[in-house]
Amino acid sequence: MTFSRSLVDHLPHAIAVITESGAIDYRNHAFDETFGTDAAQWMKEAARAVAGERGWLHGFFIESDDLSTIDVEIEGRIYRVDRIMRVAEGEMPAVALSFEDVTREREAEQAKSDFTAQIVHDLRGPLSGIQGTLEFVLSADTKLDSMYSDLLQEAQRESERMMNLVNEILDFSKIKSGNFTVEAEPVRVAGVLKRAVRSLQSVAARDEVFLLSAHGRDVPQIFGSMEKLTQAVINLISNSLKFTPQKGLVSVGAQIIRNNDIPEAIVITVTDSGMGIKAEELQTIFEKYKQSGTKSLRGGGGTGLGLYIVKQVVEAHGGEVSVASIEGVGTSMVLRLPVKRAA
Ligand SMILES: Nc1ncnc2c1ncn2[C@@H]1O[C@H](COP(=O)(O)OP(=O)(O)O)[C@@H](O)[C@H]1O
Ligand SMILES: [Mg+2]
Repeated sequence: MTFSRSLVDHLPHAIAVITESGAIDYRNHAFDETFGTDAAQWMKEAARAVAGERGWLHGFFIESDDLSTIDVEIEGRIYRVDRIMRVAEGEMPAVALSFEDVTREREAEQAKSDFTAQIVHDLRGPLSGIQGTLEFVLSADTKLDSMYSDLLQEAQRESERMMNLVNEILDFSKIKSGNFTVEAEPVRVAGVLKRAVRSLQSVAARDEVFLLSAHGRDVPQIFGSMEKLTQAVINLISNSLKFTPQKGLVSVGAQIIRNNDIPEAIVITVTDSGMGIKAEELQTIFEKYKQSGTKSLRGGGGTGLGLYIVKQVVEAHGGEVSVASIEGVGTSMVLRLPVKRAA
């Protein structure tokens, strides 16, 4: 394809032809109007490799079509840069790029997602109030009429589910905006299991599923976020509960992996005797919004974000997740977390 300059000269979009080294071979009027003469400078910057890390321009020269659009910050504004075409003239490979100022759009998106995150966050307060009240009523000494206690337990179950959804959406919006960081406090893994199991024990009891946890006595500490790890294990258990029939078993365990007697990693497993996951779906369940075709036994479809978040949490701890499953037999989710020693 050839690049028709006379036509492009008068397009309203800022367009330039840039070589791999960041030299501007061609610029149209709109480009000059937008960026003036300073462009040569930042274009060189965009091409430069700093500490082995190549500038953003590099992506447009890779022989793949994946990276043909990126957002770039140029002099305080955000531009969407699109590769229109590769230009084969002269010796140096070059690309024709268009620049569109999307600062307003991106700010609006950010405001929208901050707003969503804030609202979702605010839902947690009243929701935990409801949960507290239900728990109090259900645990009070007064004998409730069995119809009322069934209804209240149903309400408790639903509020548990809603809390999970709220937490998932909140974590997801943090991951999306890049605000997802993991604390580095000492965490007792045995405590993580205990808290996670305790918070779902009543759900398991109602579903008539046995929920057990087992770990050795000397599970070492790791560094990370107690809260996020607990939430991750809760996510796994609640998935297992959704797919495990009555009289089934969900077991949670932790095991130490040693290297020359030195603890190297802790492996947390959540195993169930549930419906299992189809082999072809195993690859994708950790992706966001991915849910398998298998219908859960207990309704209440989730967001499809749970396992995606679990994966992010574990990876933020330097660990990895894996899954093994046999349809009709059960599923085992494995979280491997490195034991990093405090400096
Ligand atoms: N223990 C399990 N047994 C069977 N299927 C599971 C299990 N855990 C996860 N899955 C499948 O993986 C999908 C993704 O899980 P998740 O990301 O937690 O989303 P959600 O729970 O919101 O559907 C689930 O919809 C389900 O199809
Ligand atoms: Mg889930």
